[in-house]
This record gives sequence, C-alpha cells and structure tokens, in this order.
Amino acid sequence: MAATIIDGKALAVRLKENVRAEAVALPRKPGLAVVLVGDDPASRVYVNGKRRDCEECGFLSEEHALPADTTQAELLNLVKQLNGRGDIDGILVQLPLPKGLNEKEVLLAIDPAKDVDCFHPFNVGRLAIGEPVFQPCTPGGVMEMLREYHIDPAGKRCVVLGRSNIVGKPMGMLLLHANGTVVTCHSKTPDMAQLAASADILVSAVGKTGLVTGDMVKEGAVVIDVAMNRNGLGKLCGDVCYEEAAAKASYITPVPGGVGPMTRGMLMKNTLTAAKLHQGG
Ligand code: GUN
Repeated sequence: MAATIIDGKALAVRLKENVRAEAVALPRKPGLAVVLVGDDPASRVYVNGKRRDCEECGFLSEEHALPADTTQAELLNLVKQLNGRGDIDGILVQLPLPKGLNEKEVLLAIDPAKDVDCFHPFNVGRLAIGEPVFQPCTPGGVMEMLREYHIDPAGKRCVVLGRSNIVGKPMGMLLLHANGTVVTCHSKTPDMAQLAASADILVSAVGKTGLVTGDMVKEGAVVIDVAMNRNGLGKLCGDVCYEEAAAKASYITPVPGGVGPMTRGMLMKNTLTAAKLHQGG
C-alpha cells in the first residue's frame, strides 16, 4: 500500500490563515515576546521562523536577544517585566538555555496565562487532568494533523518513542485523552522494536537518525516523525527510515514539511488563545 503523505506544511498554512482571521477581529493585536539567550544557531533559526509566523498572523512580535553570559537574575527580571506588559499575550523563552542558567526556575517565572509553550507546571497539570488552556505545540500539532486526516486514536494502540517533557510525555497524554491505548518507550525499554511494530499509531520523538526501520512499522500503521535531525550530509531528516516505513504505513509525515510547520502553527494558535483570554474574548 502506498502511504498517504500528511502535508504539515499545507495544514499549517491553513491553520495560520484561520488564526489571522480571528486575530484581526480582536480589539488589540495578539503580542508574542520571544527570548533568546546566547547564540545557538539552531535556536536562531527557530526564532526567525517564529517572527515570520507572527508577521503572517498579524501579531505584534518582539524579540529579546540576550548574550550568553546573561545572569539568572537578569533573565528572571526580563520575564517579570514581560509578565506585566499589557500588549504581550505570550512569552516564549527559547530552550535550551546556556549552561549555568536554571531552566526550571525561568519556566516557573512565566505567568501561566502567557505560557504559550505550555511548559509551566500549572499548565502541564491542567493538561494531565484533561483541562488544558494551551496545547503543547508539537503534540498539539500532531493531534491537529490526525484530526485533519480523520485519524481517530480512540481504541488504537499508540506507541510513543521518547519521554521528553516537551514532546513524549505530553504526546502520550493527548493520545490518552483521545482514548488511545498509549505505550511510551524510552532508552531503558528493552523491547522497543517489538512494541513499535505493534502500533496502529507510531510517534517517534527521540532525535536519532535511522531509529525507526521498516520492520518496526506495522502494515497500515500511521507513522508520525517528530524528530529534526541532521544526517551525515547535513541534510534535515527525522528518526524514521522514510522509504522503508512509507512502504508499509497508511499515513506518514515527511521531514521536513511534516510536524515542524504544525508546531509553529500551534504556537500562533496558543498566542491567539492567550490574547482572547487577556481581552476577555
Ligand atoms: N526549543 C526547541 N523546541 C522548543 C519549543 O517548542 N519551545 C521552546 N521554548 N524552546 C524550544
């Protein structure tokens, strides 16, 4: 069976068009502040992308680029200022932070009503009980993709590879809330290949090129590749051996052009949600 390719790029364009249509109807532009500490090249690329997304959605976008030797107190002070700003609805502190800065403390300092990443423990707790205000961007983007392609996780065996706070854990929660039967695999899982091969919906979020081979994909499975790796030639690729997996899957996401654009789209959707909250909408 030839797999249907899930076109994240096209879905994200539509998502952002819908966000823009709602945003322009608000009394005030939604505002997103992005904080980048240091000069990590990958983070710089992500932050530039977020600025473009804000422009496309008609948002106010503000970038705070701080030097790598910024102190914890300086960073916390900036977050506190942004928390108090009436024109800023969402605050995103780009991770990872340079060594020496305490990530947990910074995330905890963000006003949960402006936590458009859904990283604050308050929002993670709301997500765990099925009452999220914001959707975690990457897993939320995956759920949008499944919905758009009429793939219902209810009653399906969902296997998530990776247990990060940003993707693996919240992905499992969202699939569980959608009535999937969820198994989360990680570096200490002895029979990962076998479990993966039992999945109706397989989500890989490990960050290891070539991790998911064709024999780990069940005939007719839905394969979602969250990873953004660089192969030996410097080319962007995911965890999944694409050709092998596509030969067996019913649906598959490409890298690039799959989950990545949807993650960015969800950030815009969350910023709109925050703006509506702050403007009483
Ligand atoms: N670094 C990599 N992905 C993300 C993300 O989704 N949010 C933030 N804040 N930092 C990241």
